[in-house]
Amino acid sequence: MYKLIIRPILFLFDSEKVHNFTLWFVSKFTFIYPLAKIFCGSRKKEEININGLVFRNRLGLAAGFDKNAIALRFWDALGFSHAEIGTVTPLAQEGNPKPRLFRLRKDEAVINRMGFNNKGADFILENILKAKKYLSKDFVIGVNIGKNKNTPNENAAGDYLICFKKLYDAAGYFTINISSPNTKGLRELQEEENLKNLLSKIKNENAVLASGKREKNIFVKIAPDVNDEQIKVIYNTVRECGITGIILTNTTVTRKNLKENINEDGGLSGKPLKNLADETLNKFHRLNTDNKLILVGAGGVFSKRDYETKLNNGAALVQVYTGMIYEGPKLVKKILN
Ligand SMILES: Cc1cc2nc3c(=O)[nH]c(=O)nc-3n(C[C@H](O)[C@H](O)[C@H](O)COP(=O)(O)O)c2cc1C
Repeated sequence: MYKLIIRPILFLFDSEKVHNFTLWFVSKFTFIYPLAKIFCGSRKKEEININGLVFRNRLGLAAGFDKNAIALRFWDALGFSHAEIGTVTPLAQEGNPKPRLFRLRKDEAVINRMGFNNKGADFILENILKAKKYLSKDFVIGVNIGKNKNTPNENAAGDYLICFKKLYDAAGYFTINISSPNTKGLRELQEEENLKNLLSKIKNENAVLASGKREKNIFVKIAPDVNDEQIKVIYNTVRECGITGIILTNTTVTRKNLKENINEDGGLSGKPLKNLADETLNKFHRLNTDNKLILVGAGGVFSKRDYETKLNNGAALVQVYTGMIYEGPKLVKKILN
């Protein structure tokens, strides 16, 4: 039904407008939650415990879909074990000028240069707290954090810490996003010194805020556009800093083997990202011989087979974004059942 009727209608309109309309719809019309549960959802349990945080299955919604945490109840109803909200920045910001989200239909892909448009940490905290009353106990909220556009990289750690502190009690886990291609200079935070500085500050704050209790799991999200040398450095630094794991990958700035002739800046996601994301995940997996770091796979998951490929490449959790646009909400059931 989604691919035959709903998708062709949605694809007649501007992609960002459709995205916002869909989110508004699923956040306002709560009667669809039981329907979503029955027709698209999965209740399949396949628990995985990550340092005391239990995920009911291995599938989650990737960051950027629900930046402002407005539809958490819908993601829960669909049966995702977790939804990663954000990227959240300390202050609200508009993001880049529109248009900034483009469908590549023939490639089953998307290019975006949103630029961390979001309503800011305070607003998002309120949304999470409001939703929590209605969410299943075992639904995990991941909070993906970043820096405001106007904050220079020298002060970036300050922005991450503001979000980290504000959202600490509300978050199940955190993701440090240093890999969006749409905030100028952000990917420089993947370099060794910058990364060490940022992660050690967050790790210290984690110990302070946990005050003797279990510290929050922290993931770092990495771009697929990294070479083998950078992969080694990132892996070792993340490990040294005592961070839980790595999410692989964010969108790519490369444009290989595309069918659509499109010349737009931004990050490419969906099917053309899949092999690159799988290879990057696999390279980290090969370094991770003792499974000390938890790896999370994202990039080009459109089917159960794609999902299983991520697991075979060492992912403990898998996240989807573009697959939801092309396959629709039933993707959750298709993958998990
Ligand atoms: C429109 C759009 C916005 C995104 N925004 C974010 C974001 O704010 N933070 C983030 O970490 N990743 C963001 N991503 C990246 C996704 O979370 C995911 O890592 C990437 O799209 C690869 O997965 P996919 O091929 O399933 O889409 C965004 C992706 C898209 C398509």
